[in-house]
Amino acid sequence: MNQTLSVKLKETAREYEIEIGHDSLKTIGVWARRCLSKSTKKVVLISNAKVFRLYGEAVKKSFEDAGFEVLVWLMKDGERHKNFRSLETALKFFSEKKLTRTDSVVALGGGVVGDLAGFAAAIYLRGIAFLQIPTTLLSMIDSSVGGKTAVNSAFGKNLIGAFHQPKGVLIDVETLKTLPRRELTAGFCEAVKQSALSGADLFNQTARFLENYSPKFFKKHFSDEKFLSELKNLVAANIAFKAEIVAGDEQENVSRTDAKSRKILNFGHTVGHALEKVTGYKRFKHGEAVGYGILAAGEIANNIGIFGKNELKSLNDVIGLVGKLPSTDNIEIKEIIEAFEFDKKSIDKTLQWILLREIGKPEIVNNEKISTEILQKSLNKVLKSR
Ligand SMILES: NC(=O)c1ccc[n+]([C@@H]2O[C@H](COP(=O)([O-])OP(=O)(O)OC[C@H]3O[C@@H](n4cnc5c(N)ncnc54)[C@H](O)[C@@H]3O)[C@@H](O)[C@H]2O)c1
Ligand SMILES: [Zn+2]
Repeated sequence: MNQTLSVKLKETAREYEIEIGHDSLKTIGVWARRCLSKSTKKVVLISNAKVFRLYGEAVKKSFEDAGFEVLVWLMKDGERHKNFRSLETALKFFSEKKLTRTDSVVALGGGVVGDLAGFAAAIYLRGIAFLQIPTTLLSMIDSSVGGKTAVNSAFGKNLIGAFHQPKGVLIDVETLKTLPRRELTAGFCEAVKQSALSGADLFNQTARFLENYSPKFFKKHFSDEKFLSELKNLVAANIAFKAEIVAGDEQENVSRTDAKSRKILNFGHTVGHALEKVTGYKRFKHGEAVGYGILAAGEIANNIGIFGKNELKSLNDVIGLVGKLPSTDNIEIKEIIEAFEFDKKSIDKTLQWILLREIGKPEIVNNEKISTEILQKSLNKVLKSR
């Protein structure tokens, strides 16, 4: 059974649907027809060669069957291609194919494809419709929900972008069958992040799911109906959580510091971003670095006395279930602390940490409240003693 969630955005009074199913790509055109305007004729399907080879033809055919003219534009695979150059090439393609304001972009792939396609749709003719078909766990539960689109540039990662909400998101969890193990682990780190922010229900659901279905042996479960149903439930619960936060703080109001502000979604990201930066964005997948970031945030919160030992253990145990994280050998803690300065969440030069008081009770803490000794001690525990 498919599940449908609705995202209702208070600020812009927009609403769109997220549909979560399995084996649903072949009927995706019918769904797209419901989301898009009746006058939409052309869609540009944006993907990369790897994902298109796996799922592209099925999606293309389904859109064609639903009466759309489908034009395919493939970008190169990898974070480093989420840049101005790819963006310009995409826009050139739209222009050459004479896309009009009633046409649409469809993103088929992970967060890289989704962010680039979404940004291209946001700025072409000052904004045309787009649909998301996320195919990585991270993009299903995180990047496809919330309307943030961006490219990387010389100014930093994701700093040039726009808020542009999709007209709909269709998730076929079956696409995760082909996702490489490390990408799954990275996605589960973000799932643990969301579940720890959300509360005991989602946190325990995530823990139980990971105990039953280790990312290491994920593929073999796809013939099991119970697994598929639990996977869909987990993805849906993650999306519901993120959608609720986004709905209340669509554009991430910088002055908000409450437990429902969009900022809290950066839990685990201060250390995560620093780890990515000091290793030249090569050693860790983003989600893997966030995995360490969650552990570090847990230690810091415990060391400043706001997060209890038992809760810290539960958090560490769940991260222990996501799969192997890359080694942290030869990473200098001093360098990580220096890298915090560059974190884009620094507001007016004050770094804000997202910590937990309890599972489900995030708290934004100013960096001044955390001594360098506590940072060193916490990072040492997480990075040097594993
Ligand atoms: N917009 C947001 O709110 C937001 C939130 C979080 C992350 N992001 C962005 O998302 C990006 C990361 O996304 P990601 O983790 O999905 O990485 P990704 O898009 O690079 O995908 C990871 C790899 O998996 C491959 N792949 C995708 N689907 C597959 C499938 N079903 N089977 C086999 N291989 C598949 C891709 O080709 C790629 O090689 C980053 O650029 C990050 O900045 C955006
Ligand atoms: Zn992240």
